Amino acid sequence: MLEDHGAVLSELFAHPFTFSLLGAVLAHDYETHRHLLNVGILCARVARTAGHSREESVLLGQAGLFHDIGKLHIRCSLLNALHALSEAEWRIMRAHAVRGEQMLAANGATGLAAIVRGHHERLDGSGYPDGLRGWAIPWETRLLSVVDAYDAMRSGRPYAAAVTHDEALERLVASDHLFDPDAVAVLVTTLGVKFSQREALAPIS
Ligand SMILES: [Fe+2]
Repeated sequence: MLEDHGAVLSELFAHPFTFSLLGAVLAHDYETHRHLLNVGILCARVARTAGHSREESVLLGQAGLFHDIGKLHIRCSLLNALHALSEAEWRIMRAHAVRGEQMLAANGATGLAAIVRGHHERLDGSGYPDGLRGWAIPWETRLLSVVDAYDAMRSGRPYAAAVTHDEALERLVASDHLFDPDAVAVLVTTLGVKFSQREALAPIS
């Protein structure tokens, strides 16, 4: 299994397109670059664990690597802002999903573009940009959302401290109104680390 995941990852990083886009992100914002690498690698592995073909797993890995590419259009001071964001600033931040879709579509990557557009959609319809509900959100996007949320929680954000592996998984499990439980289960299997649920689960805020 490990060898198989290695082959998918080799292919994932074999595209010159990957390096040019990630290079641009690194020059813009280190934290976004780190997050994209984590999510890309984990997405490819999760997809393979879920039974996707190598080709599909590479596509999902690319979706992870590029899901926040639209943040190239957001100034660093806003990306790393320590203050509570104003409504106008949130609007700019939320626009990254559609900007990312547009950037990828402009490069001919239409399959990727569609997955990336929805990575902040949530099962209960509270997400953006389209407020999609339930299975109207494609499986690939639901998978990406789970991996994205896991890495965001593990790494911390300017407005929220990092949490442990157990805590991150507990929150994902508790948030089945937001995240597909099947996608969460595949993430748990992929990480191969058991976790013990406590009685009081804290949903993601
Ligand atoms: Fe995002």
